[in-house]
Amino acid sequence: MDTLEEELSRKGFIEESIDPSLDLFEEIEKLKKEKNAIVLAHYYQEPDIQDIADYIGDSLGLSQEAAKTEADVIVFAGVHFMAETAKILSPEKTVLLPDLKAGCSLADSCPPHLFKKFKEKYPDHLVITYVNCTAELKAMSDIVCTSTNAVQIVQSLPKEQKIIFGPDKNLGAWVAKKTGRHLVLWNGACMVHEIFSREKITKLKERHPDAKFIAHPECEESVLQMADYIGSTTGLLNYSIKNEAKTFIVATESGIIHQMQKANPGKTFIPAPPNNNCACNDCPYMKRNTLEKLYLCLKNGLPEVTVAKNIIADARKPIERMLEISASLGL
Ligand code: 13P
Ligand code: SF4
Repeated sequence: MDTLEEELSRKGFIEESIDPSLDLFEEIEKLKKEKNAIVLAHYYQEPDIQDIADYIGDSLGLSQEAAKTEADVIVFAGVHFMAETAKILSPEKTVLLPDLKAGCSLADSCPPHLFKKFKEKYPDHLVITYVNCTAELKAMSDIVCTSTNAVQIVQSLPKEQKIIFGPDKNLGAWVAKKTGRHLVLWNGACMVHEIFSREKITKLKERHPDAKFIAHPECEESVLQMADYIGSTTGLLNYSIKNEAKTFIVATESGIIHQMQKANPGKTFIPAPPNNNCACNDCPYMKRNTLEKLYLCLKNGLPEVTVAKNIIADARKPIERMLEISASLGL
């Protein structure tokens, strides 16, 4: 049994101090080998974490990687729902999250007990859930999707199929528009992608007339209407590489700009301005993870993300269905 101190430390209430003379990059590399561990990082993580990761990607890429890794330990440098997805796909592996409080406002906007009641109102509808939701919600779904494959997943279903889409109403509205299908939407949203100011973006575009404005589909429709390109984080990164423009205004979490700059040394990336003066296009959940916490979590094998067996059994099918559809489409 844990002592009180161990229990508090395990739950993240006590922060362990780290010898300041340690080179954390070296230490993390050593621990990865020792423990046969892999670090998977989302593009929204801080640059140091992206630089130490074995794989950096968007939600789809990360779940594909989690499904196929042969490592014994997955350190998920991302948020809780992503680590849960990795655990569901690889239940025999240990999945660690550097900070257990790295949640998600979008996942929180859809409490499973309320979604259950919502779903009951539409008994003849199929349920597609965006991967940014709890494992419990995935267990109530027919297919999971990410921003990379949401359009194709809806298109893969017969035209007459009635569909509930949750939890992100902005992504859902964009998918409905792209596919010409009616989707019953859950009223959820991401606090980071709803913060962009149409007025400030308009002014910025006037100052940079040759810049391309690129946006993630979690943004509101009024912002998406202004975009030259809309796509997942990987889609946005690829567009910044392929497009000849020299300047890009980027409406998504600011972490992606690290990879954009690395891939395009001669180009300029401007984070789209929020509607107030705070650093709101930093996701406060993603940014809870730090290199120090990542080191400690590898060293201590904690905190671990677990998912109940019955939830794993039900949530696995809709995630695997997504991976199968994506593979058949070469996504
Ligand atoms: P993607 O990784 O699918 O682009 O989603 C972005 C996001 O909000 C993750 O939390
Ligand atoms: Fe959730 Fe939004 Fe943060 Fe992504 S950016 S983890 S959707 S709060």
